[in-house]
Amino acid sequence: AYTPKPEDRFTFGLWTVGWQARDPFGDASRAPLDPVESVHRLAELGAYGVTFHDDDLLAVEPDRDRAIANFRKALAETGLKVPMATTNLFTHPVFKDGAFTSNDREVRRYALRKVIRNIDLAAELGATTYVCWGGREGSESGAAKDIRAALSRYKEGMDLLTSYVIEKGYDLRFAIEPKPNEPRGDILLPTVGHALAFINELEHPDRVGLNPEVGHEEMAGLNFAHGIAQALWHGKLFHIDLNGQHGPRYDQDLIFGHGDVKNAFFLVDLLENGGYEGPRHFDYKPLRTEDAEDVWVSAAANMRTYLILKEKARAFRADPEVVEALAASKVAELSEPTLAAGETIADLSRDSFDLEAVAARGFHFTRLNQLAMEHLLGVR
Ligand code: GCO
Ligand code: MN
Ligand code: MN
Ligand code: MN
Repeated sequence: AYTPKPEDRFTFGLWTVGWQARDPFGDASRAPLDPVESVHRLAELGAYGVTFHDDDLLAVEPDRDRAIANFRKALAETGLKVPMATTNLFTHPVFKDGAFTSNDREVRRYALRKVIRNIDLAAELGATTYVCWGGREGSESGAAKDIRAALSRYKEGMDLLTSYVIEKGYDLRFAIEPKPNEPRGDILLPTVGHALAFINELEHPDRVGLNPEVGHEEMAGLNFAHGIAQALWHGKLFHIDLNGQHGPRYDQDLIFGHGDVKNAFFLVDLLENGGYEGPRHFDYKPLRTEDAEDVWVSAAANMRTYLILKEKARAFRADPEVVEALAASKVAELSEPTLAAGETIADLSRDSFDLEAVAARGFHFTRLNQLAMEHLLGVR
């Protein structure tokens, strides 16, 4: 039951398994990985697809045309899909002050050219989502960046890209990935909420949604499952980056479920029952301590953990005691409109209401929470 199959729609970034584990204090601890090998290994493990940054394809073959040809061949041999692609606008030092929002106009123009070149490739490979993670769009100093001007340039960039995709007739939507900090001291569009508000100011808001990442909202001290629920409510959950994080600290990019496992449980419950139909995309980093074979153990662990949590969520919902506890806690009552059809404000004053008696009623949420914990801990 915990064996991943393509129907589960698990996808991985080439940059995840391919991460060489360079960090601010240390050199790479693993050799570069050929994207061709990643495609074959991920297919063997039961994944549905792979995603990539433009530069990921060049990990071992610097010639772009040859690298693309090799990648296409591996995709054809394995049947792996490419549902999403993205651009590396953060590694090269030219992007040290950002890409779409660099103070240097020449950099902004170069960044747009780099994105557009990879959008053409993404569309050719059949991708339907294009992720924009603005990792270096931000600042370390209040004096260095005019934030309102930066947001105008961010909007200009997104408007140009959406217009381009519409003109070309590509079946491609953009997904903005929020993150509060790292590598910049403060990054623009730091949370799901900031990004949702920004999208409303764009020229083609229907073409732009979100790619929230578990760890990024948790770095901001926020409840990821709540963020995802709101993104779904707005119809903006275009894609998702699953991984793990232990609260506000550096971006850990742990294996899914290896951080806040309780939130991961409620997240899987929400994704499976909340109408999200996109890929279950893992954006994690194999620990720096791991060797070349451990990388595949870690890739498998993401999918297995997801499937275990999916089964736990199913069992939780099917448990008669849970059904009863949900009713006792009035969880479904929240879906009932507060005024009945045809009622008006005037009808509210006709309620007979015993303030003290209603205030004294408990909601019995503790019992519900304990039942969830017991399912998660495997004792029910
Ligand atoms: C991070 C981000 C990145 C982006 C990826 C796509 O951990 O800071 O998740 O990994 O998702 O680079 O552009
Ligand atoms: Mn991350
Ligand atoms: Mn990510
Ligand atoms: Mn990442």
